[in-house]
Amino acid sequence: MPESRTLPPALEVKGISKTFTHRRRETRVLDNVSLTVQPQEFVSIVGPSGCGKSTLFHIIGGLELPDAGTVSMNGNLVTGQRGEISYMPQQPALFPWRSIEDNVLLAGELKGAPQTAARETARHWLAKVGLGGFERAYPHMLSGGMQQRAAFLRALLAPQELMLLDEPFSALDALTRSEMQRWLLELWEENRRSVLFITHNIEEALLLSSRIYVFSGRPGSVLHTVDVPFPRPRREEIADSPEFLQLKRQLSQWMREEQAKSAK
Ligand SMILES: Nc1ncnc2c1ncn2[C@@H]1O[C@H](COP(=O)(O)OP(=O)(O)OP(=O)(O)O)[C@@H](O)[C@H]1O
Ligand SMILES: [Mg+2]
Repeated sequence: MPESRTLPPALEVKGISKTFTHRRRETRVLDNVSLTVQPQEFVSIVGPSGCGKSTLFHIIGGLELPDAGTVSMNGNLVTGQRGEISYMPQQPALFPWRSIEDNVLLAGELKGAPQTAARETARHWLAKVGLGGFERAYPHMLSGGMQQRAAFLRALLAPQELMLLDEPFSALDALTRSEMQRWLLELWEENRRSVLFITHNIEEALLLSSRIYVFSGRPGSVLHTVDVPFPRPRREEIADSPEFLQLKRQLSQWMREEQAKSAK
């Protein structure tokens, strides 16, 4: 696709560093992080707990300011600006006073999408993720995994081109998780968005992504960039191929090494 090569990246993070100061104690969380998501590309970040992955998302979403570095989207500098991305936070933040359907509709409402069509789309997708019949329920009436699926849908139906997903499947049991992975893969391949995805699950990252950034322990920096070579559309069977297993071994080893360093 020659046209897509001339487009600026959907997301370009350049030289981001961040230190938090709490009670005069400084925690250096991110160290000179640079990464790119091309238009319609699915990119993942894996890295040890506490290495600053969620903080990086807060910076990209404009909720925190970096000490150094810039965030650009589609060639425009947006450091510190909110509202540019669709974001699913690590803790699903559903509004307790809104029904599940109204929560899912929220992102669209803010952007002024037409009501009836949006409601129909929301119902269609709620049924697809196994939440049919829970449209009028309130978040406290749902299990953690169900809340996570609703929060995921809300991010998916938001109109912004770039989606940031912070461990969207972590509260799901293994079976639901693999169903959601398959579903996300199919959906994304049908209707490509630019996605930056945080996960601890290496297999998940390999299955879904075109590129994986492996982060070091805190302060988080990009240790390795891995291009995932499998052609699309992808099916879960690629997980049995020798190339997949080899990449998985390599990534697992890097993660173990970083975790061991962080534990010291
Ligand atoms: N607002 C804040 N004030 C002070 N420290 C913070 C703040 N937000 C995050 N931190 C610290 O920054 C570090 C990185 O946190 P972050 O949530 O970004 O890690 P993470 O890589 O997402 O971890 P996990 O994989 O466990 O979700 C932690 O040490 C955390 O305590
Ligand atoms: Mg996190």
